[in-house]
Amino acid sequence: MYGDTSIQKPMKIAEPTSEEQAKLEARFQQMVDDDIKIEPQDWMPDAYRKTLVRQMSQHAHSEVIGMQPEGNWLTRAPSLRRKVILLAKIQDEGGHGLYIYSAAETLGTSREDMCKALRDGKAKYSSIFNYPALTWADIGTIGWLVDGAAITNQVALSKGSYGPYCRAMIRICKEESFHQRQGYELLLSLSKGTAEQKAMLQDSVNRFWWPSLMMFGPNDADSPHSAQSMKWKIKKKSNDQLRQEFIDATVPQAEFLGITLPDPDLKWNEERGHYDYGEIDWEEFAHVIKGNGPCNKQRAAAYIKAHEDGTWVREAANAYAAKHAAQAAE
Ligand SMILES: [Fe+2]
Ligand SMILES: [Fe+2]
Repeated sequence: MYGDTSIQKPMKIAEPTSEEQAKLEARFQQMVDDDIKIEPQDWMPDAYRKTLVRQMSQHAHSEVIGMQPEGNWLTRAPSLRRKVILLAKIQDEGGHGLYIYSAAETLGTSREDMCKALRDGKAKYSSIFNYPALTWADIGTIGWLVDGAAITNQVALSKGSYGPYCRAMIRICKEESFHQRQGYELLLSLSKGTAEQKAMLQDSVNRFWWPSLMMFGPNDADSPHSAQSMKWKIKKKSNDQLRQEFIDATVPQAEFLGITLPDPDLKWNEERGHYDYGEIDWEEFAHVIKGNGPCNKQRAAAYIKAHEDGTWVREAANAYAAKHAAQAAE
């Protein structure tokens, strides 16, 4: 039945003794070290399961909430071609949410529970989606920088230890790559346009550059759970490593667009073989995470409204399923 939330919980067997527990943990860690994917039926430490559910549900919520800033521009896309591209991209994001909720359900938590936590304000999603898409150029910048940062993260996730999550990531990365290209292509046409279009492009990048760098999370030194996640291969690369990878790949693309990135400290470091960059404003990050970003309240309200507006669809689907179940039982 639609909306049925009964998920098969992992089988509970008698509590293992501490000696058995140690053996199970050692075998689990050995599988991780040997790059053997962990599957839903395998034994896993409770903290591994919990960390994954938290991370995967946050990831799925980000895909779904991320549809909002872009949806804002669907009716104002400047041509049919742009509208079709944007529509396809937004639909992909909804699909990404569904794949990841499904993968998270294999850990014994229902999609309904995860979505309820988001409606109740108990679950988080990426802070980037609390920034508004103010101009048409923002649609290009979101594709270029936000999807670009997401790919950097997700390629690393696709090589992680939990099988269902990694497999979901492989397909998602292919679609993200289309998202990144469509954004860049949009910006490329603005970069060849009028002075006004060029200014709109520069303004958009000025607003999105720093929040995109924040998408990778706090600096490694301030990221207390990272070491355990790396040991379990939930994370394959640290926040700072991924951020550096993203910056190194993005700077030449910005040069090609003929724009400047809003960081006076950004420069190539020959010795390190990487770009140096300025200090991120972590106070702003904390402010947005705590619910005080420009659009946090608007995003939550739109999400709840969409759920409420869909009540009649869920009721109708449940009534239809019940009717069919009754007919089948006759
Ligand atoms: Fe996505
Ligand atoms: Fe995307």
